[in-house]
Amino acid sequence: MTEIERAVALLKAGELVGIPTETVYGLGADAANPAAVAKIFAAKGRPADHPLIVHIPGAGHLERWARDIPALAWELAEDFWPGPLTLILKRAPGVPDAVTGGQDTIGLRVPGHPLALELLRAFAAAGGSGGIAAPSANRFGRISPTTAAHVREELGDAVALVLDGGPCAVGIESTIVDLSSGSPKLLRPGHISPQRIEAACGLLPQAPDGGVPRASGTLEAHYAPQTPMRMVGSERLLDFLNAQRHSGRRCGVLSHSQPPQAVSGTQQPYVWKMLPAAPDGYAHELYAVLRELDHAGVDLIVVEAIPDAADWAAVADRLRRAVHGAGA
Ligand code: TXA
Ligand code: MG
Repeated sequence: MTEIERAVALLKAGELVGIPTETVYGLGADAANPAAVAKIFAAKGRPADHPLIVHIPGAGHLERWARDIPALAWELAEDFWPGPLTLILKRAPGVPDAVTGGQDTIGLRVPGHPLALELLRAFAAAGGSGGIAAPSANRFGRISPTTAAHVREELGDAVALVLDGGPCAVGIESTIVDLSSGSPKLLRPGHISPQRIEAACGLLPQAPDGGVPRASGTLEAHYAPQTPMRMVGSERLLDFLNAQRHSGRRCGVLSHSQPPQAVSGTQQPYVWKMLPAAPDGYAHELYAVLRELDHAGVDLIVVEAIPDAADWAAVADRLRRAVHGAGA
């Protein structure tokens, strides 16, 4: 039996499988099986009214899960699938409440990772529903996993099998665009920017107006390490670190512009991580480095503030939430 065959058999038996995607690893279950989907919530410690993303093998499966699909959805699917874009659509009759958190909408995407696609196709070919419900494979509120080892670290034996697809190429969760009512709304920024969506379809997704968060990724405290975190401007970074050192605090530093040598003779009290100075490279490594710093035994994680620019929006969003939820 190949790993894919094992994964298909487990999904059909209502078990959980860890799945590599191009964004982050997912914790997958048969989306048509409410008892299997319930296991996701139990394993993550996630509130049951939070909707999940259903992963499908191709846009040809959309009508199994969604209804009243607008032309815009087909256009975006054509341009961006397989890829890191989730579309929120009206849900089709028969989709279990467990998947949608009882809402009348559903989140759908075709992931770009070859192993995820292979699994989805094999699952559909073996008579499965063709839909794999999968949130990020972390415990609720914690940092999303970007390697198979992270999934094991987060969930241990709660997941029967973790398919190892190597480190995730994108490194942060998919862009979520809501097409379920009127004009497109950007529910979560990601690798695919609103500007690219506008270039593809002529409509710029707007921020939703206030209201109760429908996506758990939109709660303030999310993607967070257990160690407290602070964001500090580049020009203040060294002074800030020196002050921390004088008060005996060990810092983990996440910098994109300043090498550790910048701090004179003070290597010892710091764990210093350099990230690429461009947003895609930064996003690719961000979660792995946060996880590492969280395990480094430091008192504080200090993040050098990133540029205030449109192409940094997705990274800025994740960092803001991480700072807010850290130390909880
Ligand atoms: O990149 C990703 O999207 C990863 C990989 C595994 O595909 N998945 C992921 O899942 O990030 P999760 O559950 O951690 O985040 C999915 C987000 C949640 O914030 C959820 O609330 C939102 O999608 N979502 C799902 N269905 C929704 C719906 N019907 N309306 C609004 N938000 C929805
Ligand atoms: Mg998540």
